[in-house]
Amino acid sequence: MDRPGILVVGAGMVGSSSAASIASRRLGTVYLYDVDGDLAAGRAMDINHSLPSRGSDSHVTPCARLEDAGPVHIVVLAAGLARKAGMTRLDLLRHNAGVVGSLAPVLSSLWPDARVLLVTNPVDVLTWHFGSLCPGMRVFGLGCSLDMVRFRFLVARAAGVSADSVSAMVIGTHDDSMIPLVRHATVGGFPVDRLLGEEEIARIVAMTRTAGSTIVNLMKEHSGHYAAGEIVAQIVESVAQDRGMVFPVSVRPGGEYGCRDVCLALPCIVNSCGVGKILELDLSPGEKDQLGVCARSMAVRIDSLETLPKR
Ligand code: 2OP
Repeated sequence: MDRPGILVVGAGMVGSSSAASIASRRLGTVYLYDVDGDLAAGRAMDINHSLPSRGSDSHVTPCARLEDAGPVHIVVLAAGLARKAGMTRLDLLRHNAGVVGSLAPVLSSLWPDARVLLVTNPVDVLTWHFGSLCPGMRVFGLGCSLDMVRFRFLVARAAGVSADSVSAMVIGTHDDSMIPLVRHATVGGFPVDRLLGEEEIARIVAMTRTAGSTIVNLMKEHSGHYAAGEIVAQIVESVAQDRGMVFPVSVRPGGEYGCRDVCLALPCIVNSCGVGKILELDLSPGEKDQLGVCARSMAVRIDSLETLPKR
């Protein structure tokens, strides 16, 4: 893609952080849309004033209407409510399914060939929802990509190494059932259990699972957004530059891991097609059981979409 058009939909904290990080990496022409046009304009102005100090000559163009953007090759869909203290990601489903649903016909008619990275929570079920409404578009979700970075960070801190030397994978669903794959985590190529004890690893797994909720409970009115913005930008980079980086994004498996008819976070090669390929890791019987739990709970959530009021 030669200087792709990248549209961030939603100028809340996650959308704005994503736009800032994308512009700072100079990944393309960046547009920021929000239903509140003034919010998009204010956030874009603030981001733009940060870019010279970040060494970027890029800028973010605010849009009062979606059709003002374009041409668009990559859409980052981050519109909707963020989680507040006391809410689970599923509490958000009712509201955010309506938001995502109302954007689907507009986005698919304006840019049917765009790659769509769904970020709005609950991300896995909303990836399914948006994908069902826009069957012709290449849609995938943030999935457990943020959780993977959190897992890497925690392992690196515990082992006293750079996170660059930690490789880790988290699959399943972006909620408390996520599966940090300890057997596949390595530090400089060594299995993590050669460097860290069982209790320490269990603590890291628990902290990875609860990190999102811990941040929300501490900040009360907001969820985390710095880390989300950075990983979104890294995924966009992999699409925009056809890098083929591997992330556990939310996809519809077509039989991989014995799953179909759901969206799950699975390790995928992300390239200019969006998701190029789902990679199949060998899972232990316990990990397979946990993935089965995620798939079953996802099927229930997908069914619950049918009962939501249409907007
Ligand atoms: C998180 O895990 C907001 O879902 C996001 O922090």
